[in-house]
Amino acid sequence: MSGIILVGFMGSGKSTVGKQLAEALHCEFIEMDQEIERKTNQTIPEIFASKGEIFFRETEYQVLTESIQKKAVVATGGGVVTFDKSKALLKRESPVIYLKGHVDTLFSRIVNDQHNKRPLATAKTKQEIAEMMSQRETLYEEVATHTIVIDDLPVSDIVSIIMKEIKGMRL
Ligand code: S3P
Repeated sequence: MSGIILVGFMGSGKSTVGKQLAEALHCEFIEMDQEIERKTNQTIPEIFASKGEIFFRETEYQVLTESIQKKAVVATGGGVVTFDKSKALLKRESPVIYLKGHVDTLFSRIVNDQHNKRPLATAKTKQEIAEMMSQRETLYEEVATHTIVIDDLPVSDIVSIIMKEIKGMRL
């Protein structure tokens, strides 16, 4: 095992939880979207607009390949599992923690998040987000070694649960 990977839909708290988990474990934190932006010198919306989703997914795959080799907590982007090559990589990793949330929780977080501009969630209705979530649900389950239902849980509790779940695993 090289690190701890967090997966889950947009708004499930991968970045917030990942940052605190990395602090608690005294290890590096990698936010894949930020790495992609650094690598391409463009923001995520700019990449989607100028180069398209396939280019984004290929870059995301490259960043995933690099990230999983490090002893780090890795927060993936919500769509990483939709790209077969990335999903295959994740399936070989452990632990992969799936942060699972109800559509009510995630939709309101996505709508209220002013900082994170998500091209695939822009102007989507709750119904459309629910459909997207249900298409991805089995993909997250396929790669996850652990699943945590995050609704109503404070970040510190989620971090504690993950710490308990991975106790004994060598980083
Ligand atoms: C995406 C999720 C985003 C980002 C991109 C695509 C998706 O990451 O990678 O906008 O397809 O669900 P977050 O899950 O961190 O918002």
